[in-house]
Amino acid sequence: MADDYFKRSNWNKKDEYYTPPILVNAIIPYLKSNPNTFDIPPEKLTIWCPFDTENSEFVIRLKEAGFKVIYSHIWTGQDFLQYEPQEEYHYIVSNPPYTIKLKVFERLYQLGKPFAMVMGLPILNYQEVGSFFNERQKENKKLQLLIVDKKVSFDGNTASFNNSYFCWNILERDIVFHSLDHNNSRKHYVGSRMSRDVEKKSIFSYGIQERLNRKPPVGQKGMKK
Ligand SMILES: C[S@@+](CC[C@H](N)C(=O)[O-])C[C@H]1O[C@@H](n2cnc3c(N)ncnc32)[C@H](O)[C@@H]1O
Repeated sequence: MADDYFKRSNWNKKDEYYTPPILVNAIIPYLKSNPNTFDIPPEKLTIWCPFDTENSEFVIRLKEAGFKVIYSHIWTGQDFLQYEPQEEYHYIVSNPPYTIKLKVFERLYQLGKPFAMVMGLPILNYQEVGSFFNERQKENKKLQLLIVDKKVSFDGNTASFNNSYFCWNILERDIVFHSLDHNNSRKHYVGSRMSRDVEKKSIFSYGIQERLNRKPPVGQKGMKK
């Protein structure tokens, strides 16, 4: 299934960035203290990660934090724009594909569950993005931002922009700043184990790795086998 996907699809390098554990950890306290579900113990709270595999740091870390996690991904035939799990879930948390970000946010608001999505803050520069969230605001679907105080690296090299969380119904205030111990670059680097999925699926023969064209990360702690 996954290999077929790689063969058929327009693999888009801009969509294949795997969130490191330090950035996943940042959202956990806000999910645990959310007033919507404050009375439900974490083991009874279900989080859907719709752009994720079992090796995603969202899936791994949220499970470790005690939540029930369900996950899906286009590689396994579950297109977020059409698919919804049958079982009940309380939150949608992940890092979505950049190239379809507004379609993703539209679908998230349609689904009507509290969400937290990692997204680069520079998208706020774009007029179409401002208009999109302005329209949602009129429908009382206000955007919330959990802004981390460091530019987290996804590959061990210095990041050029800030990736934070775009949320709805997750935070107690519309803008919350969150402090991180480091920016995950150089000696601090821990990568996502989801990168291994790309290796496992033997997709190198399709030239995917070349297209990813990543520089070797510095100190690949999270990717050692
Ligand atoms: C930015 S990556 C993040 C992966 C993972 N959520 C993480 O944070 O490590 C987004 C992923 O969504 C996948 N994807 C793209 N379009 C999708 C769709 N329509 N439905 C589900 N997954 C999709 C991409 O192949 C990519 O692996």
